[in-house]
Amino acid sequence: SPEDTLYKRIGPEVLHDLVTRFYGHVAQHPDLIPIFPADLSLTARKQEAFLSGFLGGPPLYHQEFGHPRLRARHLPFEITPTRARAWLACMNTAIHETPDLAPDAAAELFAALSRTAAAMVNTPEPA
Ligand code: HEM
Repeated sequence: SPEDTLYKRIGPEVLHDLVTRFYGHVAQHPDLIPIFPADLSLTARKQEAFLSGFLGGPPLYHQEFGHPRLRARHLPFEITPTRARAWLACMNTAIHETPDLAPDAAAELFAALSRTAAAMVNTPEPA
């Protein structure tokens, strides 16, 4: 129902599939490869745990790793507006490759991630 959390509307299995597809694209994106580790398995596990709580489900990231301090954690990486767009492009592709995601839930998810991605930008575009 519409009162349900986004987590409930998406569901843990679909969330898992989405995160897996997303990092498959991150691993191939020329703007993102330089700042991500070659092995994205732990990154993907942390992201899935983070999104669980972020979308109103179980706070798995907090339980396992503590407070995410998301912006501080991203400061070691140069996140330019181009990289934020690349991140969101990977997510948009992954969303469209996940047919079990209902269109309204997909739109709300993408809007929430767009706001968070904008908040992670910490470096101006290189001149
Ligand atoms: C970790 C990049 C946006 C959540 C990371 C890492 C990089 C990165 C390079 C470190 C990977 C690793 O060492 O395992 C970016 C870029 C973004 C972005 C370029 C574009 C704006 C976001 C957004 C979220 C997010 C929007 C949440 C919705 C996380 C989480 C981690 C992470 C949960 C793992 C933190 C940890 O190590 O415990 N990100 N990120 N990121 N990112 Fe992002």
